[in-house]
Amino acid sequence: MTVNSPVPFEIALESRAGPVEAMLRRLLEDRLQPGEIARPERLFQAMRHGVLNGGKRIRPFLVMESAALFDADGEAALRVAAALECVHCYSLIHDDLPAMDDDDLRRGQPTVHKAFDEATAILAGDSLLTLAFDIVSDDVTQLPAAARLALVLSLARAAGPGGMAGGQALDLQAERTAPDESGIITLQAMKTGALIRFACEAGAIIGDAAPSDRERLTEFGSAIGLAFQLADDLLDLTADADAMGKATGKDAAAGKATLAGLHGIEWTRRQLQGLVEQAEALLEPFGDKALRLRQAASFIAHRRN
Ligand code: IPE
Ligand code: IPE
Ligand code: MG
Ligand code: MG
Ligand code: MG
Repeated sequence: MTVNSPVPFEIALESRAGPVEAMLRRLLEDRLQPGEIARPERLFQAMRHGVLNGGKRIRPFLVMESAALFDADGEAALRVAAALECVHCYSLIHDDLPAMDDDDLRRGQPTVHKAFDEATAILAGDSLLTLAFDIVSDDVTQLPAAARLALVLSLARAAGPGGMAGGQALDLQAERTAPDESGIITLQAMKTGALIRFACEAGAIIGDAAPSDRERLTEFGSAIGLAFQLADDLLDLTADADAMGKATGKDAAAGKATLAGLHGIEWTRRQLQGLVEQAEALLEPFGDKALRLRQAASFIAHRRN
């Protein structure tokens, strides 16, 4: 497929998802790696349940398309994409736990703690997080050691207390003390934005891009990361659980502070359009090569699930 082919975005997304899922399946096989002592069967079943269950795979798509801008090695990008999806799936498994959002349904199936048990869900999440760093740092990921180290650092910062995990902490706190608008934006940039921003930055690292291009991709990731959570909050208000594969209407019920809740549906739609335009403008220097990433920005803002 060439970057300019008139393939609808959803088909391009699916065609990237296939190899990602094959890679994830391979990584979660019952095959011992050097240094491992055993792979507990039930734990791996739970990990597979949390990963191989039909996500949109938008973050892996962003890694691979960002890397393709710089003509990067496709196999290395695929491994980093799979690693990021492991972190994302871990965040969902833990987000759904009774101590957090207490959800029974994820991607149209029982959540991991429902299908297994809470302790196993916690450990499956822990294991997916560490597996991600295993994948990126392994020299099977054919990138120079400095690039693998840069990816490890950037992923750690994106997933950690100053990124996703910190954002989840602020999100829980926000149920008790409502943050103002800038507080909500910070929370969202962390809990959702950080991994999406990493996805785009990772493509630039894998492709050994110039610092200014890496910065540009990072900014693009920030804009679409914010759009992603705005759209998620909008869908929580407007979509039904069947379309989403997860419960909706929960944010308002839990007293969750969201921009959509604060400003309403129309404001949120206008804001989303503004973020798409901002994101698209950042890609201008890449011309036609960035077609898929431009489409991704629009998809993220206007998605239906
Ligand atoms: C859901 O992410 C969680 C948020 C960050 C809002 P996605 O909408 O990407 O979920 P999947 O991976 O497609 O299930
Ligand atoms: C979760 O945000 C973001 C992370 C998992 C880090 P939400 O709680 O809004 O995600 P959903 O709606 O359950 O997918
Ligand atoms: Mg949550
Ligand atoms: Mg949730
Ligand atoms: Mg949500």
